[in-house]
Amino acid sequence: MEAVKEAQAPGTRAKTQQFEARPISWRLGSEILGLDLKRSDEISDDSFRAMWKLLGERGILLFRKQGLNHDQHLAFTRRFGPLAVTGLTSRYAPEGYPDIFTVTNIKKNGERSETENAAQQWHSDQTFLQVPARASMLRCELTPQFGGDTMFADLTHVYDDLSDGLKATLEPLRAFHSLFCTRSKVMKGRKTLSEDELKRVEGEQGAMQPVVLRHPDTGRKALYINEQCVDHFEGWSIEDSRPILEYLYKLAEHPKYTYRHRWQPGDIVFWDNRCTQHYAPLDYDFAALDQPQNRRLMFRSTLA
Ligand SMILES: [Fe+2]
Repeated sequence: MEAVKEAQAPGTRAKTQQFEARPISWRLGSEILGLDLKRSDEISDDSFRAMWKLLGERGILLFRKQGLNHDQHLAFTRRFGPLAVTGLTSRYAPEGYPDIFTVTNIKKNGERSETENAAQQWHSDQTFLQVPARASMLRCELTPQFGGDTMFADLTHVYDDLSDGLKATLEPLRAFHSLFCTRSKVMKGRKTLSEDELKRVEGEQGAMQPVVLRHPDTGRKALYINEQCVDHFEGWSIEDSRPILEYLYKLAEHPKYTYRHRWQPGDIVFWDNRCTQHYAPLDYDFAALDQPQNRRLMFRSTLA
């Protein structure tokens, strides 16, 4: 098969054997056209290899108007490789689908969803595991009439723009990633874990990761820390780490590094956790979650 040639400018398309790809922003993200993901078994291995390569280069792949169910969603994800472990997210799985993480603001039995404000801090998925998730796939079923967006930041270009001095300082460092770190908001307000859940998340208490990650497919370096999980570098105190971390977090959220996705039902966004991070700005009327026009319902699968 011919290698996928990315179009040079938004609006132009590059023809490939089984799909077309076009950029959705200058440096981050490409939309894939011409594939029916409901029949992912009919998509060639070469096309999957080409999509995987493009994912590393562009950080995000977008598929529109797919309308997948859980089985089709998982079947498509598995064509890229084995699924990641589920720990904390398994409590939010739809019945019968432990590998899917439900993200919603829809109340259940009158109770608010603990995932209504998921992704309220910038992060990449599962960096607190020894072997973090390589990529994640989020499928939109319902999105608010206005807002409900997800933002993505391009950590390769953030790293590229650092001065040589700061790059040299960061290069040898490692950082400790944990959902229970002092900066993390993710566990606040959530029900305490049951004994069974505690056992399952034993390996999720935290992990040391390089601060600069070389992407195994593209060879490019990216900044690999995130506000949700990192409050200190290895061997540094939280206080000593804070000024540099805050500088980097602020830099990485600059609009020039970001792409903001406005969801439509049927969208699938597939992102590479090794070179991007994401954030949900909660940009809709949170005081009126019961209004049908504010409902948000998404399902995530995750690749090991
Ligand atoms: Fe996430």
